Amino acid sequence: MKAALKPSTAVLNSVADPRALITELEIQHRTAQLSERICADITGGDLVVIAILKGAFMFLADLSRHLEVPVEFDFMAVSSYGDSTKTSGVVRILKDLDTDINGRDVLLVEDIVDSGLTLSYLLRNLEARDPASLELCALLNKKEKRKISLPVKYEGFQVPDIFLVGYGLDYGQNYRNLPYVASLKK
Ligand code: PRP
Repeated sequence: MKAALKPSTAVLNSVADPRALITELEIQHRTAQLSERICADITGGDLVVIAILKGAFMFLADLSRHLEVPVEFDFMAVSSYGDSTKTSGVVRILKDLDTDINGRDVLLVEDIVDSGLTLSYLLRNLEARDPASLELCALLNKKEKRKISLPVKYEGFQVPDIFLVGYGLDYGQNYRNLPYVASLKK
């Protein structure tokens, strides 16, 4: 099975820049730090972690491994970019929560905040459901592109304004499975 994986990785590396902008090791280290901070801040004992699909799936998986508090997971699927590299600014909910978050502590997990339009919409949407608290956690923060101010309490890395793939981030639905974050070659 391992032999079959090697060529596939090589193909990916020939398209995605093999010099990872953020390595697997750096991601794992930072993710563990973020989980520790989140655990230290949680006092209510009724945490709901909501990941935004699709991009946040890998970050959520690693973040959750270190969460040593009672936690429920839920997912929302939204689309603001589709297969385009430019946000439309219009956020569509493709899948809503299964959980009622009223009166509960909510942590919203994203892979990347770019313009901030997606998270801004989601914050308004979730705040209307009256959670006890609502905080944001994003692996990557592209502050240069921000069109709207957002309180990202738990931030993994600040990244420059270049197109990124890997660790959940895609280009045309590809490269999400890379264990690191890389820029896409032109
Ligand atoms: C990406 C990312 C965020 C959003 C951030 O999602 O996961 O949800 O864009 O961009 P913004 O700050 O400019 O709004 P995308 O729409 O690409 O969907 P995906 O997660 O399925 O890849």
